[in-house]
Amino acid sequence: MAFYLVFTALVGLCSVSSVAELLRLEQQAKADGSLSFLVVGDWGRRGSFNQSRVALQMGRVGEELDIDFVVSTGDNFYDNGLSGIHDTAFEKSFSKVYTAPSLQKQWYNVLGNHDYRGKVEAQLSPILTKMDSRWLCLRSFILNAEIVEFFFVDTTPFVDKYFTDPEDHDYDWKGVLPRQAYLSNLLQDVDTALRDSTAKWKIVVGHHTIRSAGHHGDTVELVDQLLPILQANSVDLYINGHDHCLEHISSPDSPIQFLTSGGGSKAWRGDVQWWNPEELKFYYDGQGFMSVQITASQVDVAFYDVFGEVLHKWSTSKELNLPM
Ligand SMILES: *[C@@H]1O[C@H](CO)[C@@H](O)[C@H](O)[C@H]1NC(C)=O
Repeated sequence: MAFYLVFTALVGLCSVSSVAELLRLEQQAKADGSLSFLVVGDWGRRGSFNQSRVALQMGRVGEELDIDFVVSTGDNFYDNGLSGIHDTAFEKSFSKVYTAPSLQKQWYNVLGNHDYRGKVEAQLSPILTKMDSRWLCLRSFILNAEIVEFFFVDTTPFVDKYFTDPEDHDYDWKGVLPRQAYLSNLLQDVDTALRDSTAKWKIVVGHHTIRSAGHHGDTVELVDQLLPILQANSVDLYINGHDHCLEHISSPDSPIQFLTSGGGSKAWRGDVQWWNPEELKFYYDGQGFMSVQITASQVDVAFYDVFGEVLHKWSTSKELNLPM
């Protein structure tokens, strides 16, 4: 009996410390429960490299789709993140670029590897939100919108080479070390949150690719450590940036669609590797962005270039669970 009590107490303690730590936010859907949003990645270059043209078209499409929010897949400020909360890049690359009325919505930002080269805590700071109320950047978090749940994952700390071969870059790992504990906690939190989710659609967002035919290709650390968790929990979409292109890959062994929206400014023309054409549904090596529209029964994805032309569309549906 005594043993049992001690045991239960211990288990209780352990489960307290491993309880999902991910912050949970709520996103209001439209009156009919549907949602629409834009996704842009790899963008902050003070308007240059077509960032402003992409922003203009985002504004137009955002209005057309009556978007509820914007997702940024990271690499928010080039080349080296923000140097502090007073870095003028915040205004010049964000506030004064995405000026269209339809883009005056909540932005959900993750960090990319370039952001880790600056003062990470500056981007995470609520002071930025005071300067521009659209701004929200967190390392990893959950966004609940009823029919869909989003799981934002901080992918940069997974990548070995930033630690073993940082070249001449100075990464700000404050808050990440010890690395193995950070990663295993994060993976466990994501796994638990995905398993507990009752949302019709599950979308995971990170900066780094899992599958990509672009310059960086697959991120092996994520293929090894994150992908199995996404597959085991029937994730519908994995959305990322990092490769400066627009891309859609599906795979024969899982229903996950791999969507890259990393065309927010500088693009890498011609930088594409061979990929099985049955899986590579779309690849564009110029600038642009992506839109997603979600209802309880359907997801519609579209990719756009700097002229706002639709380059690729994809849809999927699930049966509605009708009330009995
Ligand atoms: C801007 O976009 C146009 C149209 O895709 C392209 O021709 C041009 O090279 C781009 N400019 C830059 C600096 O990438």
